[in-house]
Amino acid sequence: MSDQHQVAVWDPWVRLFHWSLVLSIAANLFVLESGHRAHRMVGYACCLLVVLRIVWGFAGTHHARFANFWPTPQRFRVHVGRLLRGERDDHPGHNPLGAIMILVLLALVLMLGVTGWMMGQDAWFGDERIEALHGGLANGLLAAAGLHIVAAMLMSWLSRTNLIRAMITGVKTFPKKTD
Ligand code: HEM
Ligand code: HEM
Repeated sequence: MSDQHQVAVWDPWVRLFHWSLVLSIAANLFVLESGHRAHRMVGYACCLLVVLRIVWGFAGTHHARFANFWPTPQRFRVHVGRLLRGERDDHPGHNPLGAIMILVLLALVLMLGVTGWMMGQDAWFGDERIEALHGGLANGLLAAAGLHIVAAMLMSWLSRTNLIRAMITGVKTFPKKTD
C-alpha cells in the first residue's frame, strides 16, 4: 500500500534462532523433566543457539549486528526521551530498551547453561546453592521473557508496526511518517 513502507530487517537465521530458542526454553520450563537427560541436552542446545547468535552479532547481516543495536547511553537517552515526549521513534532494528532486554535474555540462558553444567560436576554435586541459583535463574528468565513479550506487543501498538509478525516474516511494515 502506498501509505506504508516495508523494510526487510530480520534475516532467516535471526528468525530461526529466535523461534528455536523460544521452543527449546518452553520445553525446558514446562515439558521436560527437570535435570533429566533431555532437559540437559535441550539446555545445552539453547546455549549453542546463543553462542551462534553472538557470532552472528559480529559477522551477520546489518540489523543482526550488535554494533547496530548496542544500547549505548546516547541511543538510550534519545529513545527514552522521544517515548516520554510521546514522539515516534521508529527503529528498523532493535530499539535500545528492547536491546537491553535481549542482552539480559541471552545472558540468563548462558548462566542457566553454566549452573546446569556445574550441578553435574563432582565439585558441586548435590550443592543446594547451585540448584537454587539454577531455579532462580529459570524463574528470572520466565519473568524477563514475559516482560519482553508484553513490551513487544506494547511497542507494536504504539508504533503501529507489527513487531511479532516481523520476527516471523522478516519484514517490518511502518506506517508513513506523518510528522
Ligand atoms: C535454557 C536452559 C535451561 C532452563 C530454562 C532450565 C530450567 C530448569 C528448571 C525450571 C529447573 C527446576 C528447578 C527447581 O526445581 O527449582 C531445572 C532443574 C535442573 N536443571 Fe535446568 N534448565 C536449563 C538448562 C540446564 C542445563 C544446560 C543443565 C545441565 C547440563 C540443566 C540441569 C538441570 C538439573 C540437573 C536440574 C535439577 C536440579 C535439582 O535437582 O533440583 N539445566 N532447570
Ligand atoms: C523464552 C522466550 C523468549 C526469549 C528468550 C526471546 C529472546 C529474544 C531475543 C534474543 C531477541 C533478539 C533477536 C535477535 O536479534 O536475534 C528477541 C526479539 C524479539 N522477540 Fe523474543 N524471545 C522470547 C519470546 C518471545 C515471544 C513469545 C514473542 C512473541 C509473542 C517474542 C517476540 C519478539 C520480537 C517481536 C522481537 C523483535 C523485537 C524488535 O523488533 O526489536 N519473543 N527475542
